[in-house]
Amino acid sequence: MSEEPKRQPPIINPKFLERKKKIQEKMSKIKHKVVVMSGKGGVGKSFIASNLAVSLQLMGFKTGLMDVDFHGPSAPKMLGIRGQRLIGTESGIQPAVGPLGLLVMSLDFLLPDDDSPVIWRGPIKSTAITQFVTDVNWGELDFLVIDMPPGTGDEAITVGQELPQVDGAVFVTIPSEVSLLVVGRSISFAKRMGIKPLGVIENMSYFYCPDSGKEYRVLGKASGKKIAEKYGIEFLGEIPLDPRIADANDSGEAFVLKYPDSPAAKNLMEAAKKIAKLVGEEVKE
Ligand SMILES: Nc1ncnc2c1ncn2[C@@H]1O[C@H](COP(=O)(O)OP(=O)(O)O)[C@@H](O)[C@H]1O
Ligand SMILES: [Mg+2]
Repeated sequence: MSEEPKRQPPIINPKFLERKKKIQEKMSKIKHKVVVMSGKGGVGKSFIASNLAVSLQLMGFKTGLMDVDFHGPSAPKMLGIRGQRLIGTESGIQPAVGPLGLLVMSLDFLLPDDDSPVIWRGPIKSTAITQFVTDVNWGELDFLVIDMPPGTGDEAITVGQELPQVDGAVFVTIPSEVSLLVVGRSISFAKRMGIKPLGVIENMSYFYCPDSGKEYRVLGKASGKKIAEKYGIEFLGEIPLDPRIADANDSGEAFVLKYPDSPAAKNLMEAAKKIAKLVGEEVKE
């Protein structure tokens, strides 16, 4: 009779274990991690992620914003903190400081100039994401908002697989049947990655004319609500198209702080409250 071959324990690279431990350590100091994603580009993820982060800070939550759209980092520009120097200390990199003390980390702070393209393949992007967690001094935070690139690529897979205890994802969509289709794919993808879908925000729902206060549904029929119903998740609200949003983003002034009384800012603030409640925080009305 031949003997059963003895099972060998798996060989685990000690560096891998060390990295896992470091991620765990850093992330355990961050109470909630919320990912902002979408199926498509240009739907307003970075605008919404940045302004949700500022809204959470405004509500009294200590918040950080991690921009992992390496090919198109845009949060620093929208918050007016491009060009801030990152300070390296023995314990890690100090993130940049945005409006109201919001902490921000983005590849934008590390690129030598505006014309340098980022030509990275998947494994490098995955390493960079883990470094944004392990090598950055986020300290104790209530919220870390993660601004994702569009789609269901390497970055989203890394966030799902490497970052422990992500509370969930907020999906940004625009009112169109096309967007409805792609956001559905992202929701299913997030579920597969073990990221809980929290809710849907519809951006560019209608054009809000600041002069007359009139509303025009220019892009298509509202679909954000439909998606939320279909997947049984919360509808977090409608954000109108408003020329002041584009202006504030381009001039680097946090929109919710510059135009707090606009319908878009009020709805963003409401969405931030809903998100905080969804992850179990108490929110003053
Ligand atoms: N509701 C809105 N009204 C006006 N402009 C908007 C609105 N949402 C986004 N934008 C503009 O659209 C562009 C794309 O937004 P961005 O947040 O970079 O999208 P994404 O991160 O999904 O690629 C930016 O120039 C931004 O200023
Ligand atoms: Mg973006």
